[in-house]
Amino acid sequence: MRRPFIAGNWKMHKTIAEAVDFSQKLCKQAQQFTGGKDILIAPPFTALSSVAKVIEGTGIHLAAQNTHESPQGAFTGEVSSSMAAEAGCDYVLIGHSERRHLYGETDDLLARKVEAAWKSGLKVIFCIGETLDEREQGKTFAVVEKQIKEGLKAFKEDDIERLVIAYEPVWAIGTGKTATPEQAEEVHALIRGLQKKLHGAAAADSLIILYGGSVKPDNMTELMAKENVDGALIGGASLDVESFLQMIMFDKPE
Ligand code: PGA
Repeated sequence: MRRPFIAGNWKMHKTIAEAVDFSQKLCKQAQQFTGGKDILIAPPFTALSSVAKVIEGTGIHLAAQNTHESPQGAFTGEVSSSMAAEAGCDYVLIGHSERRHLYGETDDLLARKVEAAWKSGLKVIFCIGETLDEREQGKTFAVVEKQIKEGLKAFKEDDIERLVIAYEPVWAIGTGKTATPEQAEEVHALIRGLQKKLHGAAAADSLIILYGGSVKPDNMTELMAKENVDGALIGGASLDVESFLQMIMFDKPE
């Protein structure tokens, strides 16, 4: 049985004080849901250490939104995965569509980032998804398959414990347009099928696959009702603690 996984990606939002305030409010309610679910927040780098102190011992996970593919070096403005781990992270988001499309991150670069993160002991939420053009041309499955095969080429069966995949159609991120539960399920089932073909049934059955793209309290339940949707990666609607709490409280039907 896969544990539901709800992640909030704050992007470039919240000061340290705001991040601490959010985390304190989240922790107050944490005991009642962290037992059966994985809850994660991904604040900006500047707030990681402060948030780590607040959530310590609650079981809430902390993620960096991006890390560099090298352990250290002359890379002005970058942060390595071991630095993120030292700041208190246990996860990192790799391959978010904003990194792919605004900063030109390629499958090859992302493969190196994934390996570097795993070497530093971080778990990876690997984000994939097609653009509107690609969907309209019927290329969704081909795009997602290529992103997985190339970005996760270092994956071995044992890595299943340190991988989460987030399917985030680019046309649904921050646009208010959510994939229908059927559209999400179709791609999630494809991803699980691909994992089975590449790495066997056990790895496929335990792979956590999140949906992301305009998830809100209003559409959370119907998306989560789908068999292959194990949780959500939430941007905008994760910034407000009340709205995030509402989404954490969803119950996945048995
Ligand atoms: P959104 O962002 O929920 O604001 O669409 C999701 C994401 O980018 O992870």
